[in-house]
Amino acid sequence: PRIFIPLDTTTRALDGEAVASAVADEAGRRGIEVNIVRNGSRGAFWLEPMLEFEDANGRRAFGPVAPGDVASLFDAGFPAANGHPLALGPAEDIPWLARQQRLTFARAGLADPLSLADYRDLGGFDGLERALAMTPQAIVDAVKESGLRGRGGAAFPTGIKWQTALDTEADQKYIVCNADEGDSGTFADRLLMEADPFQLIESMIIAGLAVGATEGFIYLRSEYPVAREVLTEAIARAEAAGWLGSDIAGSGKAFRLELRIGAGAYICGEETSLLDSLEGKRGLVRFKPPLPAIKGLLGKPTVINNVLSLAAVTTILAHGAEYYREFGAGRSRGTLTVQLAGNIARGGLIELAFGHTLRELIEEFGGGTATGRPLRAVQVGGPLGAYLPAALLDTPLDYEALAAAGGMLGHGGIVVFDDSVDMARQARFAMEFCAVESCGKCTPCRVGSVRGVEVIDRIVANVNRAGNRELLDELCETMIHGSLCAMGGLTPHPVRSALQHFSEDFER
Ligand code: NAI
Ligand code: SF4
Repeated sequence: PRIFIPLDTTTRALDGEAVASAVADEAGRRGIEVNIVRNGSRGAFWLEPMLEFEDANGRRAFGPVAPGDVASLFDAGFPAANGHPLALGPAEDIPWLARQQRLTFARAGLADPLSLADYRDLGGFDGLERALAMTPQAIVDAVKESGLRGRGGAAFPTGIKWQTALDTEADQKYIVCNADEGDSGTFADRLLMEADPFQLIESMIIAGLAVGATEGFIYLRSEYPVAREVLTEAIARAEAAGWLGSDIAGSGKAFRLELRIGAGAYICGEETSLLDSLEGKRGLVRFKPPLPAIKGLLGKPTVINNVLSLAAVTTILAHGAEYYREFGAGRSRGTLTVQLAGNIARGGLIELAFGHTLRELIEEFGGGTATGRPLRAVQVGGPLGAYLPAALLDTPLDYEALAAAGGMLGHGGIVVFDDSVDMARQARFAMEFCAVESCGKCTPCRVGSVRGVEVIDRIVANVNRAGNRELLDELCETMIHGSLCAMGGLTPHPVRSALQHFSEDFER
């Protein structure tokens, strides 16, 4: 029998390594031969460490398993262990997972993420094989027709970005994957890299074929050591198997891929800072234009996409643009990867077509707050996203609907707060975060954020409250209109939304 134990960061943080050792020890003690497979997580973090036992009758899940539970699982009659309090049945029947519409994360958790044979068996490289038989323009057209928009947060049409790079003549072009996932409460990029790294590699090769780029870089944040290990090994194996290098799968076409590690600056997730950092400089935001698609890494045309935007391309190529387009709502096509975090009973990764409401996500999937107290606020779209009150929970999750409600979908992170939250502190935190993470290039952000903290402190301390509220509003306007990038330009969103929906917290 095989026992699957996830190797990802979240499972490790929840004592997964100790569980894996306990399983090996217990099996040894009882003289049972087991094959332990370290799979990726399926993203149901509230059930991790989730073990799956597989025998001739199929695969059954158990979780969350603590090291101390392992002996009782064996006592209950491993591998069936029917009737054990931690028994969950087949993982794919767990309603939280069964109700999802997984395209990008369809393979997550099914197998050893580093097994090329498993990747192939589960449909891996189908998209690349199609792409190898297509012209660059046909690949770009497929991405355009799919309606895919940038999943890093800005939602710019991916196909148009690729067209710009394809149309720009150059002796060298690059594909850069932005894996600097810095938004608070987000972990989808990490989960994909840890659970299905070959999908990212495959998608970058497709992007290279589409725009005529023969070199790619994954810019990974240093805070993801497990993803680093997995990607390093995955790249080596893909190279050894001929999927990367000077002759991709015998096609005569070349694509080389390198992993680069960031150094902990939030701003290096901004695409032009990321390019500076890749070039070995301090990460400073560049002026745009020129767009990176025209003049990017080392001055050459560069497609920079988020992990999830790239990964979606494998589905589009393998199953067709029409198939992908059929998911979604309005101008938001395909699937959205929601990351449910904060004060939530059942947190984790949920992939669904766009258009489901915040309420469905938080109540039906998330099961409400972890504390059981009433929900008071949700922050959608990372630290630069707006705070929305419980009254707006019926807002559908698509780019336009959320913007109409004063929010921002961003990278799909949802952080939940119960009624013990102090929203004036949250607003102060937004300004403080900006002050710490500002690259310092422009004044509204560099100085404005520091002044913002001071002004909020004066409002809360009731020092000329009316005057300082007006001043804070003017400061927010200046930051929105005068900042060079989204860091300074979006920081006022959490601040203003806190003032708008929770003004009583500023007057305690
Ligand atoms: P942007 O709107 O300036 O650009 C979006 C993308 O489209 C860029 O790659 C840009 O180069 C490209 N682009 C724009 N016009 C183009 C054209 N005509 N042809 C080709 N390419 C074109 O937004 P930006 O500053 O890149 O991103 C801001 C967003 O980042 C925010 O809305 C926020 O949601 C998100 N964000 C995400 C974080 C994360 O951890 N994933 C962290 C912080 C912010
Ligand atoms: Fe740098 Fe902030 Fe200006 Fe962006 S807004 S360029 S982070 S100083």
